Amino acid sequence: MSIILCSAVALLAAAAPLVSAQTLVVDQSTIEANSTTVAPAAEAVPADTTAADIDYFGAETVQLTDSVLANLTELNLSNISLFGFSDNATLSKRALPTSCKVFPGDLLWPIPVVWKIFNLLVGGALIETTPLAAPCYNDHPQVRNDAMCSYVTNNFVNNSFMHADDPTSVMWPLYQGLTCMPTTDPTQKCTLGAFPSYVVKATTVAQIQLAVNFARNANLRLVVKNTGHDFNGKSAGAGALSIWTHALKDLKYIANYQQGSYNGPAIKAGSGVQAFELYDYANKLGVTVVGGEGKSVGVTGGYLLGGGHSPLSGLYGMAADQVLSMEVVTPDGRFITASDSVNPDLFWGLRGGGGSTFGVVTSVTIKAFPKMISSVATFSFSSGNGVSSDNFWAGVRAYFDYFITFTDKGAYEYFQIMSTGPDTFTFGMAPFFAPNMTQAQLQTLITPWLSTLSNLGIQVTPQYFSYDNFYDAWNNHFPLESVGLPTIKTASRLFPKSNWATESSLNTTFDAIKSVVLDGSTILSFNIAVAKNSGENNSVNPAWRNTCLHAIQGAFWSTNATQAEVQAASKKITFDWMQRWRDASPGAGAYMSEADILEPNFQQAFYGSNYDRLYALKQKYDPTGLLYTPTGVGSENWYITGQVDAIPTQNGRLCPISFKSRFPKRAIRA
Ligand SMILES: Cc1cc2nc3c(=O)[nH]c(=O)nc-3n(C[C@H](O)[C@H](O)[C@H](O)COP(=O)(O)OP(=O)(O)OC[C@H]3O[C@@H](n4cnc5c(N)ncnc54)[C@H](O)[C@@H]3O)c2cc1C
Ligand SMILES: *[C@@H]1O[C@H](CO)[C@@H](O)[C@H](O)[C@H]1NC(C)=O
Ligand SMILES: *[C@@H]1O[C@H](CO)[C@@H](O)[C@H](O)[C@H]1NC(C)=O
Ligand SMILES: *[C@@H]1O[C@H](CO)[C@@H](O)[C@H](O)[C@H]1NC(C)=O
Ligand SMILES: *[C@@H]1O[C@H](CO)[C@@H](O)[C@H](O)[C@H]1NC(C)=O
Ligand SMILES: *[C@@H]1O[C@H](CO)[C@@H](O)[C@H](O)[C@H]1NC(C)=O
Ligand SMILES: *[C@@H]1O[C@H](CO)[C@@H](O)[C@H](O)[C@H]1NC(C)=O
Ligand SMILES: *[C@@H]1O[C@H](CO)[C@@H](O)[C@H](O)[C@H]1NC(C)=O
Ligand SMILES: *[C@@H]1O[C@H](CO)[C@@H](O)[C@H](O)[C@H]1NC(C)=O
Ligand SMILES: *[C@@H]1O[C@H](CO)[C@@H](O)[C@H](O)[C@H]1NC(C)=O
Ligand SMILES: *[C@@H]1O[C@H](CO)[C@@H](O)[C@H](O)[C@H]1NC(C)=O
Repeated sequence: MSIILCSAVALLAAAAPLVSAQTLVVDQSTIEANSTTVAPAAEAVPADTTAADIDYFGAETVQLTDSVLANLTELNLSNISLFGFSDNATLSKRALPTSCKVFPGDLLWPIPVVWKIFNLLVGGALIETTPLAAPCYNDHPQVRNDAMCSYVTNNFVNNSFMHADDPTSVMWPLYQGLTCMPTTDPTQKCTLGAFPSYVVKATTVAQIQLAVNFARNANLRLVVKNTGHDFNGKSAGAGALSIWTHALKDLKYIANYQQGSYNGPAIKAGSGVQAFELYDYANKLGVTVVGGEGKSVGVTGGYLLGGGHSPLSGLYGMAADQVLSMEVVTPDGRFITASDSVNPDLFWGLRGGGGSTFGVVTSVTIKAFPKMISSVATFSFSSGNGVSSDNFWAGVRAYFDYFITFTDKGAYEYFQIMSTGPDTFTFGMAPFFAPNMTQAQLQTLITPWLSTLSNLGIQVTPQYFSYDNFYDAWNNHFPLESVGLPTIKTASRLFPKSNWATESSLNTTFDAIKSVVLDGSTILSFNIAVAKNSGENNSVNPAWRNTCLHAIQGAFWSTNATQAEVQAASKKITFDWMQRWRDASPGAGAYMSEADILEPNFQQAFYGSNYDRLYALKQKYDPTGLLYTPTGVGSENWYITGQVDAIPTQNGRLCPISFKSRFPKRAIRA
């Protein structure tokens, strides 16, 4: 069995700001911190090659094991117990879920030497957080830099890759607390807000296990960041230790994968792999896989764990339906496989139950499909120039008549409706995506609607494109979407197909959509219907199985809005505009990954009838609530201190509700 040795000198060099001296004070004596005094906290564990579904990446063979911990214990470092598995470590009193997570400045917050030891154990992968926009601020002299500041400023909204490549940046900064936004006034303050305190840039499973064990044993808040795309900023958490999965980029093609009834090609992808990478990889192999439309979104992290809708969902189903097997570090620190044959209950919950809930996923093996042709149409139309707003809306209403027709053919349309001035509106189709269709088939499909538009005086000349593969169609026609806006809140609804059953129910649906646009909301939506497929026995929100419209709306406010104005906008979208949509779709749901953080009864909306089973599974795998994410399963048992009404952030202390109910009057330092 070979041992992974870390060179202490390299570690110290890599982590210079954190480990300034090459010594550690441990048990009152000063020792040299090196590969002898701090044993390599990892062991090479080969995959069990006799089991078809257990096939590790290199990063996954480097594990924390009981023997590694036994060696560390031998060293008599008094803090080593902080890194043990939960079945070994003695859970101290402060780890009981009746106390708040420890916070920087607390007596129980790990002292610097503990962070140093942790950094040595993870091979120098620990990063102390510097916010992305810190170069704009004088109070960050080490990184203050005008050129860097303008780069961050110029790319903040148009370049999601920049946020994904940063250890802590989130793309929906409102929920971070807006404590370090790009600025032209360097004298302002840049504080951490909801950014975590420390980040482990994970390249091995052992590092993830050490971080999970340390966070659990020291009662730290733990967050997981992949790309930071989540609409509710779910990868942020004040005072947290973060596991950053971005560097887990491995990809592997398995031509003949066998699992249960599946026997065919598959791709195993590390949890840091992003859509542009996975699609490119698959295309070069001449296969097609199910991922999102968003270019920089992670595929096997929060996206797939929360369900994952795709331009290919109309043919193959949700991203979570494609999974054959996954590897995961569970909250007890153990590294396990979940598939139909191993840990099937966890496998069920991981495929749709949401990120940061049952464990930290390190890789996922998904089905691969044959190469396929794809066609695309893009166009837009507006009121004005001879088109009355009545005719504009009649044209949009005519589109709604075709929702079932289009999705029956497997199409996926990404469209926008917005008000551009008093009684003027615009509709954008970007793109109408038609997988497995020729351009002629696509034209035939949409011509009846275009004729109706023409009869209304709306002349639309689509641009058509067709490709012999999915990747080029996707790459050329989905936009790199805006992110990073501090002045927006979104909400969404999965409208059921049954709303299309009668003209009257369709009118009600359409009117609910139209009414919020008339009130100033912007609509960004998908005409999508998820194909029935063999991978559906999972925890994806059942509302996805019978929808044909995933409608997202946004409320905007001006950059100089007062807090009261932001609160009013937030309440309007949640309790007024969204209520119209809920009233028009009773009992339906919403997509957790592109949702309203304040969705009332989120358990029903995001999880539907799966919620009770998911909640029980959460108690089984994470009894102490190590993993918390807003609106995640079991998150109702926690709250964040110091919140402003209607503008929730992760910028506060994470505390159990049981603590609040037991000590309602007790002041908690925020
Ligand atoms: C521009 C844009 C385009 C989008 N396009 C699509 C789309 O086409 N289809 C679609 O369905 N959704 C889409 N989304 C929504 C997307 O699914 C969510 O943002 C999703 O949460 C992103 O997952 P992530 O891992 O990349 O991001 P993160 O924000 O980093 O993570 C999201 C959540 O998952 C957790 N998590 C991440 N990785 C892991 C892991 N390995 N193990 C356990 N938990 C983990 C995080 O802790 C967090 O709670 C889009 C979002 C944006 C902003
Ligand atoms: C870690 O070890 C140091 C040095 O022995 C000790 O002072 C400290 O209390 C320990 N911390 C924890 C959290 O056990
Ligand atoms: C590590 O430090 C110990 C204690 O100072 C020392 O005895 C040993 O030689 C060092 N080992 C290496 C590999 O530097
Ligand atoms: C434990 O330490 C011994 C002695 O340093 C070493 O030979 C062995 O490989 C270590 N085992 C593990 C699993 O780290
Ligand atoms: C941890 O527990 C396991 C099983 O309970 C045991 O085999 C192992 O020796 C223990 N490890 C340590 C480091 O105590
Ligand atoms: C750890 O402590 C035990 C018991 O006190 C002792 O026998 C052992 O030599 C110590 N190990 C080291 C590496 O100092
Ligand atoms: C974003 O905008 C900036 C400034 O306008 C530009 O330099 C940069 O290339 C853009 N980036 C992307 C990814 O579009
Ligand atoms: C669905 O999966 C669960 C395991 O989570 C299993 O118990 C059940 O039998 C499966 N149902 C079907 C219809 O395959
Ligand atoms: C794609 O279209 C062909 C016929 O044109 C059909 O045989 C095939 O099943 C379709 N593929 C999917 C995934 O629907
Ligand atoms: C639906 O709306 C259209 C347009 O407003 C109207 O002409 C039609 O009568 C309505 N149908 C029903 C059944 O309400
Ligand atoms: C915000 O700025 C706009 C002009 O940029 C101004 O019209 C408006 O009154 C300002 N609002 C507040 C609340 O200051």
